[in-house]
Amino acid sequence: MASYKNIVVLTGAGVSAESGVSTFRDNDGLWEQHRIEDVATPEAFHRDPDMVQNFYNVRRAQLKNVEPNAAHIALGALESGLDGQVTIVTQNVDNLHERGGSTSIIHMHGELGKVRCTCCGYVFLWPGDCSQSSQCPNCFNQPALRPHIVWFGEMPFEMDRIESLLGACDLFISIGTSGSVYPAAGFVSLVRAIGAAHTIEVNLEPSDGASHFAETRHGEAGTLVPLLVEELLA
Ligand code: APR
Repeated sequence: MASYKNIVVLTGAGVSAESGVSTFRDNDGLWEQHRIEDVATPEAFHRDPDMVQNFYNVRRAQLKNVEPNAAHIALGALESGLDGQVTIVTQNVDNLHERGGSTSIIHMHGELGKVRCTCCGYVFLWPGDCSQSSQCPNCFNQPALRPHIVWFGEMPFEMDRIESLLGACDLFISIGTSGSVYPAAGFVSLVRAIGAAHTIEVNLEPSDGASHFAETRHGEAGTLVPLLVEELLA
């Protein structure tokens, strides 16, 4: 394999599936058990904040019972072993990339382990439950705190930075995402339109965007990602 110096890795729920974190659109996925409109939109939070807070409280608590898998750990090793830059752009709100050893991570859909004050805008680490009676530690308003999550209808974080990284990379890898949610689903086309980077999809099955990748590898991330990282570091 060519030696790459500037790698961007897009990840989705599939990279955390083998850690026991539910995906969204597979059988038994989160969106089979909950309606997006009830728990993952600004309107839902306005209508029923307790229900939305509880949905994220349960998921935040689940983070304490899961561990990074071989794919997270291999990506951490890629960052430390490559003579170049590796950036993870993740749609995941869990912290398994951090715990797998990666340090250069953009959480474009937010982070479960943080809350944001709707009054002063401060973002805080928040390991426990959050509710409408939780007080903002900065401006002391209450109710004020919401999950630091990008809901449907909101703008993903750090898009300008992500677009420049996509324009500058020489390898783009997409792991464990169905390719059904934009803007992330459009990254591969953007990469190919802007530059000459190689593009690889690693997913359990062909994603909606599989035909846009120069190379596809289908199977479990926990098996395929360590093999890919081994090739990249060889
Ligand atoms: N290894 C690799 N891929 C896997 C594995 C695995 N072990 N298990 C599942 N997958 C694949 C599935 O085949 C599917 O294509 O991961 C993909 C997960 O797709 P989604 O559930 O749609 O998750 P994702 O693409 O991350 O969703 C994007 O949608 O609801 C929003 O904000 C949410 O960030 C999320 C966004």
